Amino acid sequence: MKLRKVTAMVLASMMVFSMAACGSNAETSAPAEAPAEEAPAEEAPAEEPAEEPAEEAPAEEEPAEEAAASGGGNIGVCIYKFDDAFMTTYRNALQEILEDKGYTVTFMDGKNDQAEQNNQINNFIAQGVDALIINPVMTSAADQIIATVKDAGIPTVLINREPTAEQMSAYDKLVYVGCDARQSGTMQGELILDTPNKGDINGDGKISYIMIQGDPENVDAQYRTEFSVKALTDAGMEVEELDLQRGDWDRNKGQEIAQNDLSKFGDEIEVVFCNNDDMAIGALQAIQAAGRKVNEDIYLVGVDALDAALNEVENGNMTGTVLNDANGQAAGAVEAMEALLSGTTYASGEQSIYVDYVKVTPDNVAEFK
Ligand code: GAL
Repeated sequence: MKLRKVTAMVLASMMVFSMAACGSNAETSAPAEAPAEEAPAEEAPAEEPAEEPAEEAPAEEEPAEEAAASGGGNIGVCIYKFDDAFMTTYRNALQEILEDKGYTVTFMDGKNDQAEQNNQINNFIAQGVDALIINPVMTSAADQIIATVKDAGIPTVLINREPTAEQMSAYDKLVYVGCDARQSGTMQGELILDTPNKGDINGDGKISYIMIQGDPENVDAQYRTEFSVKALTDAGMEVEELDLQRGDWDRNKGQEIAQNDLSKFGDEIEVVFCNNDDMAIGALQAIQAAGRKVNEDIYLVGVDALDAALNEVENGNMTGTVLNDANGQAAGAVEAMEALLSGTTYASGEQSIYVDYVKVTPDNVAEFK
């Protein structure tokens, strides 16, 4: 679906945002010029040449107050690695929103290396960017990142990898925009509970599953792993974990783990939980190669609602997925950045802004395509 169309919807949906109290290869590279080398083809964005630094007036349809808050600034964006299917969708959404609003934006690929990303942040600061949007490589590096941007006085929005509220409270020109990963885990469990036999395909009274986990350093991986199973046990189901392995959000690793587990546990596996869709697509390849049929003799769920996963949900090759709203989060990140740029500061405990996840099943998948 066209991002431009979605943006209006997204901006409207921002009204329901909840404030939770709860190397110096600094080429001015829009994502279009630095494609994710190994990103799966179906997720690779339609690459358009990066536009000239957009200094033109904001688009006509933009409401006046938004136009007033927008434009003209230099924004540095650090992504943990470009070669990540979901973050590719996300950075393309960010690029479109920021450029439409008249900002000049430079994206840097952290290449999954925190030391490299630290250099990139320092270079952005040396260049005098007006604001930073940072998807940290390591959540554990949050203290250092926050100290650096605070020292430089740069308004900063952290995305995708959430630090603790205490860490963020060190700097009042800092906001986190993301999702509450517990919600996505719970929704994955509910997708299984909504199947005709509640995940107990062989009727032995327990749900036997394998868990293919993202990078366990990341709360998204920790919470999805915990809350998907918790939803089952909270509903009174007995569960059996046959295997839990880290697949680091990666399609090939998802395929390898599922392949090994299918040959080791065979028909015992009733449910394959994947912390994200890219690993689920890999797992699906292994499931099909093993002659198993999703929704008949095995269930498979992911998170993100990548285009490839939406197709598989529609075709009945995935039981379901959970929308990780890249457009909503990108719009939220830009809105928070503009609030910071216009002088808003954030009190401790009010620095996280969450966008809701949404369950995707064959019944509603068309809405997401
Ligand atoms: C998650 C997403 C994963 C991966 C990860 C990177 O929210 O579901 O696919 O992109 O972020 O931190």
